[in-house]
Amino acid sequence: MEGKTVLITGANSGIGKETAREMARQGARVIMACRNQETANAAREEIVKETGNNNVIIKKIDLGSQRSVREFAADILKTENKLDVLIHNAGMALAFRGATSEDGIELTMATNHYGPFLLTHLLIDLLKRSTPARIVIVASELYRLASVNLNKLNPIGTFPAAYLYYVSKYANIYFARELAQRLEGSGITVNFLHPGMIDSGIWRNVPFPLNYPMLAVTKCFFKTPKQGAETTIYLASSKDVEGVSGKYFMDKKEHGLSAAAMDMDKAKKIWEESAKIVGLTASDPKI
Ligand SMILES: NC(=O)c1ccc[n+]([C@@H]2O[C@H](COP(=O)([O-])OP(=O)(O)OC[C@H]3O[C@@H](n4cnc5c(N)ncnc54)[C@H](OP(=O)(O)O)[C@@H]3O)[C@@H](O)[C@H]2O)c1
Repeated sequence: MEGKTVLITGANSGIGKETAREMARQGARVIMACRNQETANAAREEIVKETGNNNVIIKKIDLGSQRSVREFAADILKTENKLDVLIHNAGMALAFRGATSEDGIELTMATNHYGPFLLTHLLIDLLKRSTPARIVIVASELYRLASVNLNKLNPIGTFPAAYLYYVSKYANIYFARELAQRLEGSGITVNFLHPGMIDSGIWRNVPFPLNYPMLAVTKCFFKTPKQGAETTIYLASSKDVEGVSGKYFMDKKEHGLSAAAMDMDKAKKIWEESAKIVGLTASDPKI
């Protein structure tokens, strides 16, 4: 990956941190796009020390805030002259009680779907100037437990809020498929993945007393974040997937989707509504 610039959201912990470590080890310029600057600094220090690659930088972003996403993108466009790989890794899940973002959007959807949707638009011209480029989206097989309600794309008040994690991961899949279609022939590929069930911070909001059995399950049966990063790394860097786009991967292999997830009419409708919800304007790049 020498000579390549890789941007990873949520690179301060879990799967994102392991992805950043490997990209740095392979010689890339790594942009760690993180919300928590303290853990991001500690992660960066560890990665630089271990890999000897100093070309690892931290930029602040809160994907749940449209203002923050726009500020972040403006900063990237000012400081970076290329972007070879954009990895949408950051994600969060709530438990029972929901929350609303500063833009009035249900927080899980704001962070896991709308933030990445807006960020992709704002960085698309930079990716186009850097072709061949890749976009990698960390979705989840848990999408199968949900459906995306076209009449409730800002699902404030849904109970339990944890369900919206599945919905947001489903939205990632519709987004990835529609994005791949829109970018066909552009030199930018888009692929998405399930990393496996991983012992990471994503389970941190599981409430008492469920957190105890959950802890036992994650420690005994789930894979490590390093294992969880393998498919992301593969899609970001392997020659095997050069030119491959619009595909879903698991364990570094292409995987099938449910029939409902292949519905491109629905993907298009979600895209159009998402563009309204994030307030894309005529002066924003169009995909
Ligand atoms: N773990 C699994 O079993 C599993 C399975 C399927 C898919 N996934 C997906 O894998 C991805 C990585 O998650 P993980 O398992 O590695 O969990 P994790 O350790 O909790 O990492 C999630 C990362 O996302 C960041 N993040 C959350 N909200 C953010 C926001 N508003 N703005 C910017 N960054 C934010 C977190 O930053 P903070 O430290 O600031 O919170 C953290 O760095 C997620 O997309 C998740 O949905 C995980």
